[in-house]
Amino acid sequence: MEQIRTQVGIVGGGPAGLMLGHLLSLRGIHSFILEDRSQEHVIERVRAGVLEQSTVDLLHEVGLGDRLGREGLRHEGIYVAFGGERHRIPLAELTGGRAITIYGQNEVVRDLIDARAATAEPLRFEVDEVSIRDFDVQQPKIHFRHEGRHHELTCDFIAGCDGSHGICQPTIPAAQVKIYERVYPFAWLGILVDAAPSSDELVYSLHDRGFALFSMRSPHVTRLYLQVSPEEDIDQWSDERIWSELDLRLHTSDGWRPHRGPITQKGITRMRSVVVEPMDHGRLFLAGDAAHIVPPTGAKGLNLAMADVWRLAGALDKFYQSGSETELRSYSERGLRRTWRAQRFSAWMTSTLHRENSSGASGSSSAFEQRRQRAELEYLISSRAAMTSLAENYVGVPFD
Ligand code: FAD
Ligand code: DHB
Repeated sequence: MEQIRTQVGIVGGGPAGLMLGHLLSLRGIHSFILEDRSQEHVIERVRAGVLEQSTVDLLHEVGLGDRLGREGLRHEGIYVAFGGERHRIPLAELTGGRAITIYGQNEVVRDLIDARAATAEPLRFEVDEVSIRDFDVQQPKIHFRHEGRHHELTCDFIAGCDGSHGICQPTIPAAQVKIYERVYPFAWLGILVDAAPSSDELVYSLHDRGFALFSMRSPHVTRLYLQVSPEEDIDQWSDERIWSELDLRLHTSDGWRPHRGPITQKGITRMRSVVVEPMDHGRLFLAGDAAHIVPPTGAKGLNLAMADVWRLAGALDKFYQSGSETELRSYSERGLRRTWRAQRFSAWMTSTLHRENSSGASGSSSAFEQRRQRAELEYLISSRAAMTSLAENYVGVPFD
């Protein structure tokens, strides 16, 4: 077995792992990133698109703002649609100028991989047989296989950035963690379309047939989502069926609807909330989806991952500068505060905008729930206080 040494071993080359590696390299701390998928797969995986203000600020601060500045779409508001009407929530006006930026997660990942390639710091794709050990003692180790050869990577710390199906979190003894979980009776069918967005801003819509979301990736690409049942089979959704359902759910009385075009990607994502407490165990620190999953309605997952690694990089820097572990020891507590805040907001957005038991064919929520949702949305658009509450959570509070 080949022996390697680094300061921070990072499992997972998604946004969390790559950003952590970047922040550490700026501080002169060595890391080794291991990713089990191919570089093409990681770059092409279509996922999040909404960056909070603090995520955008961080990307600029760490030298990753060039393409984001040119191609990212800054949005100062969103629409909430119900009862056939669209209502604008002026995010920037309500939050002292904070906004969101539309820039695909895969573009963030592409920029981070390019930045990594410009350093001498290692990033290995297509590794397998990854396992971690000795993370409750001084010299944790990661075993992995790359290009047929076995390696042992000895580190000072391990960062578990391997997402919701990774190996780091399940390696912590079950008695040492508490996992909170809620599974929602919904999923999102998402499509990417070669068509110019028909609205300058996102539209979150509640219709009797269920939730629909209008979003975008660029001036030429529209992104759309439909609430479907978690058991739904994507093969049952022809392009025509998707378009007619989107038309029904998004069409508003002013004649607005999304532009149609060729569908270039489609997929179904189930929804759940997960929180792992604590986020650390000895010298292993979990970050991003490895530590928490939020339903996508609040657009928080990628942004929480960025907040985690910003905090972790700061704490590791303190340790290497002064030997102090104080910040490392408060990493989990500070992260959980932000995580639960995001869970609250995401669960609220989800329950306000989705129809229970809707499979796209009929809205059979209880009559009470439907009236409650209607009252919630009417209050939202009529109260500056309610809109401000949504706005400050949606654009995100500063990293802490
Ligand atoms: P991941 O992106 O999952 O990265 C983990 C990496 O680890 C992966 O590359 C994986 O291949 C790798 N890995 C796994 N196991 C191993 C192993 N054993 N060894 C080595 N590598 C391993 N969030 C938002 O903020 N805004 C949005 O608008 C938004 N929309 C979304 C829409 C959809 C449809 C989906 C699915 C998610 C959305 N999210 C959104 C959530 C966001 O995509 C995730 O929160 C984000 O990807 C988390 O990043 P991560 O690096 O923690 O995890
Ligand atoms: C997108 C995804 C989300 O989860 C969301 O809440 C808004 C937009 C998107 O992919 O564009």
